[in-house]
Amino acid sequence: MIKTCNPRWLLALFCLVTAMAAAQAQTAKLPNVMVLATGGTIAGTGATSTTTVGYTAATVGVDQLIKAVPELSKIANVKGEQVFQIASESMTNEHWLALGKRVNALLAQNDVDGIVITHGTDTMEETGYFLDLVVKSRKPVILVGAMRPSTALSADGPINLYNAVAIAGSPDAIGKGVMLALNDQIHSARDVTKTNTSTPDSFKTPELGLMGYIQGGKPFFYRVSTRKHTADTEFDIASLSALPQVDIVYGYANMNPVALDAFVAAGAKGIIHAGVGDGSLAARVKPALIAARKKGTIIVRSSRVGQGILARNGEANDDELDFVAADTLNPQKARILLMLALTKTNNTREIQRMFYTY
Ligand code: DGL
Repeated sequence: MIKTCNPRWLLALFCLVTAMAAAQAQTAKLPNVMVLATGGTIAGTGATSTTTVGYTAATVGVDQLIKAVPELSKIANVKGEQVFQIASESMTNEHWLALGKRVNALLAQNDVDGIVITHGTDTMEETGYFLDLVVKSRKPVILVGAMRPSTALSADGPINLYNAVAIAGSPDAIGKGVMLALNDQIHSARDVTKTNTSTPDSFKTPELGLMGYIQGGKPFFYRVSTRKHTADTEFDIASLSALPQVDIVYGYANMNPVALDAFVAAGAKGIIHAGVGDGSLAARVKPALIAARKKGTIIVRSSRVGQGILARNGEANDDELDFVAADTLNPQKARILLMLALTKTNNTREIQRMFYTY
C-alpha cells in the first residue's frame, strides 16, 4: 500500500526549504567583513551608566561587541578576531607590525571583502596612518572606536561599529585608503586627528575636510586623499620584526636640547622636531639638531600647530642643514612615515620625496 504524505507536511517542508534557500542566497550576497578588535573605550566598561570618564578601557571581547549589534547580520557576514586587548596609549611598533601583517594576510583571502579594526581613540589616527602606508590591498580597512564606554548612556560604540562594517562592506569604499569612521563621519587616516579629549565629535580633518558621511548604513563620499596609500605603497613590512627608533621633541618657549640629546644618545635613528609656528628652530636647540644630523640622525621639521604646510627652506635652510620638511603631516604621523622611510633609505632627498608622496 503506497503511504501518501500529508499535503500539509509537504507544504511546510516546501516552505522550509524555500526559506533556507532564500536565507542562504541572502548570506551569499552579503559582504564578508572581519572585525579585528584591539581594545580601547569601544570595549570599555564604567561603574555606572553615566560614567563617561574614569572607566576601564579594553575589557569587552570582540564576540560581545558584535553580539551587542545584532543588526550587523543584515548588512554583512561578520567574523571577529581579538588581536589585542589594550588601551591604545599603550600601542607599540610591535603591535603595529603584527596588526599590519594580519590585515595583509586576511585581505589576501578571497573570502574577506573588508576589515574593521576596533581601537582606542588616543592613537587611532596613528595606527590608521601606519596601515595606510603598509596595507597591500585596495579592499576597505576602517578603524572605529568610541568616545564613551560600552556601559554608558548613549554609548557611541555600537552605532560606530555598525557604520564601520557598512563602509567596509561597501564597493564605494574600495581603493580610498585606510579610513576612520566615528560620529557618522568618514575621514582619511592620513589627515584626521583627535581634537577633543572626551566628546563624541572628537575626530576632525581640519581644513582639508572629511571624506564623507555614513547614513542609513550607506557611505556617501565627497572627496578622497590625493596622496599615495595602500596598494600603491612602496613600503613592505612582511620581513620586518622591528621599526627604526624615531622620537619627537616638542617645541615651546624656553625650549632646551636636553630631550633631543637624550633621544640621540639612546640611539634614535630619526627625530621629529615638532616646532612652534612653521617649524621654527630655537637658538638654544639648533646647534643640537645640527650635531645630531652630523651623527647621522635624520631630522624632520614638523609643527605643533596642527594645520598648514610645513614649508621646506621656510623657517630654516633645510637644503643647507640637510633636514626634511614634514609638509602637512602632524608630528605623530611624520614619525610613522619617517620610521617606514628609514626601513628603505637614509638619503634625505629620497625621504623628502616620500613626505611629498604619502
Ligand atoms: N585609553 C584610551 C584609548 O584606549 C581611551 C580612549 C578611547 O578609546 O576612546 O585610546
